[in-house]
Amino acid sequence: MTAEDDTPPAALAPLLARFSLGAKHLVEPGPDAAALRWMTAAALRAPDHGGLVPWRLVAVAGAARERLARAFEAAAAEAGKDAESARLERERALQAPVTLTVVARIDAGHPIAPVHEQWAAIGGAIANLLNAAHALGYGGKMLSGGKVRSATLQRVFCGPGEQLVGWIVLGTPARAMRPRHDKPAPEQVLSLWPAAPAVPTPPADAGRTED
Ligand SMILES: Cc1cc2nc3c(=O)[nH]c(=O)nc-3n(C[C@H](O)[C@H](O)[C@H](O)COP(=O)(O)O)c2cc1C
Repeated sequence: MTAEDDTPPAALAPLLARFSLGAKHLVEPGPDAAALRWMTAAALRAPDHGGLVPWRLVAVAGAARERLARAFEAAAAEAGKDAESARLERERALQAPVTLTVVARIDAGHPIAPVHEQWAAIGGAIANLLNAAHALGYGGKMLSGGKVRSATLQRVFCGPGEQLVGWIVLGTPARAMRPRHDKPAPEQVLSLWPAAPAVPTPPADAGRTED
């Protein structure tokens, strides 16, 4: 493999092809308990300073989605949204076959892993989970929005010291889809640090003396 070779290594094919699919593009079947367990196992392989696992997941599927719909509706009312917006929030909860609530458990006083590293671990876990879902043939998307600040939803999902990160919607892609977002070329974010700082080249007339 060379830097110029554009053929992706076979082992990376699922990672390089992953993209997000929102709830309106997801249909049944959603991942079952076994698939969710493997996705969670993949999330747990993410880098995690101190091994704190500063997150947990709450899976909402089947009939429990009605309960999520009521909670989303209540959050919309709490935020002063009109009846139509509240109805849309209800529908959001019912649309995806499975919704995983992502809850953060940040230890602000941890002696080894500062807060930003714990958030980095949460991001890694989310990415690993979505990659695992994609590799298993499911579509998914991480969503947050103003709802994460809803006192109603925080009460429903969080215990003391916990915060709502958002929701990962999961299901079977409704049809073959393509990524919607172009990504930068790797060279735009990857540079090779030289072993020694470049020696500044002297200007062409350096050393010339006035006569
Ligand atoms: C923590 C987190 C919260 C997000 N919240 C939203 C959101 O509320 N709405 C949204 O459209 N995208 C949200 N995104 C971005 C999408 O999940 C997705 O990454 C983005 O649309 C880019 O699509 P791609 O993954 O196919 O590149 C969020 C991502 C993260 C990591």
